[in-house]
Amino acid sequence: MKTNSSPVWGGRFKKPLAQKTVKFNESISFDKKLAQFDILGSQAHAEMLAKQGIISEFESHAIINGLKKISKKINSNKIEFSEEAEDIHMNIELFLIKEIGDTAKKLHTGRSRNDQVALDLRLYVKHEIQNIQNLLNNLNISIEHIAYFHKETILPGYTHLQKAQPITLEKYLKAYQSMFLRDTTRLNDCLVRMDYSPLGAGALAGTSLPIDREFTAKKLGFNGVIENSIDAVSDRDFIIEFISAASIIITHLSRFSEDMIIWATEEFNFIKLDDAYATGSSLMPNKKNPDIPELIRGKTGRIFGNLMGILTVMKALPLGYNKDLQEDKEGLFDTVETIKNCLDIFNDFLNSITFQTDNMKISATNSYIWSTHLLEQLVKQGIAFRIAHEIIGNLVIYCLDNNKYFSQLTKEECDKISPHIFSSIKLIH
Ligand code: ARG
Repeated sequence: MKTNSSPVWGGRFKKPLAQKTVKFNESISFDKKLAQFDILGSQAHAEMLAKQGIISEFESHAIINGLKKISKKINSNKIEFSEEAEDIHMNIELFLIKEIGDTAKKLHTGRSRNDQVALDLRLYVKHEIQNIQNLLNNLNISIEHIAYFHKETILPGYTHLQKAQPITLEKYLKAYQSMFLRDTTRLNDCLVRMDYSPLGAGALAGTSLPIDREFTAKKLGFNGVIENSIDAVSDRDFIIEFISAASIIITHLSRFSEDMIIWATEEFNFIKLDDAYATGSSLMPNKKNPDIPELIRGKTGRIFGNLMGILTVMKALPLGYNKDLQEDKEGLFDTVETIKNCLDIFNDFLNSITFQTDNMKISATNSYIWSTHLLEQLVKQGIAFRIAHEIIGNLVIYCLDNNKYFSQLTKEECDKISPHIFSSIKLIH
């Protein structure tokens, strides 16, 4: 006979679990993060069961109210989760039994933890996508604001990390803005595809009870139901897709960070770091280090790792639920927290930066980055592109050999290379 401490599935078992099995098997230490979504799902399920006449209205109300109380207790940390109850789903079911008695034992009717966990995860990812989109939006507002003041700020644009052509700081910043905008729409795409409810899929084959899947899907804000019950409980492609999108976001953040790290060097000196967003050295009194962008660059490793993790968990998994799927959570939670932290602090970091526009200008002036402009001036005068390319190439060699920039050349020096150069130089400066 089942004792009080047996798991909810204990009826078929003669012996209790070994303590090591309990420890190894549990997910409550991390899936407690899903508590509020689990409760929302259960409340919708209980309401549906009553609507379908599977349980009474009275029982449904008792369950829904009991869950409300549990939700409040969890929010105020008044509940202690137990490893023995394995995961968030069984913890809450057991709390409910304690709260309202035997009626709670009807909650799991027509449902399995397999569709329940898939539901919780979808609700969680949907919720967090919105938070991440808000953070992306905040960052883009900051970029817009900063860029507004730098429509005329010239700085060298780089290819191969070699000075290439002049650009404006506005254009530079808006390149990242475009990437973050695409990141937002990428998350939207992910959201649209995952916005279907797995609830009612049961363990894998649905149920013979007359449940109404459309009702719970609508109640929980989904666009519809996942038609195939095996698909509903088996796949985690929405997690793979979400972490892929997060990997692209952190890649963009990492590149932006890398640029700021380079710009903060004494050699570049394009930005000054705010004391509140930089750190010192325990040994070298002169140091001011860009730890924030460095850490963001480093955290790409975690998120890429999480993507590899979930891809590997899913690869070659037999169709249907397998306990391997419990390993989908920690990497997902870590990805969400990491990407939110990085977006948030990078926004503050960006707003704290002083752009050294004079240094950018000097760097752009003391260089040959106007060469392509000059070449195009010659093309406008009817000179073939390849010939113009060679003329300006020769001019650059002349300048390098004589330690001069274009603006310092005399007419005689220019005319020695081509009669078209001198007037063109005037046009580009
Ligand atoms: N804790 C489990 C997980 O995270 C919940 C589903 C358990 N299902 C099962 N058939 N054992 O995946």
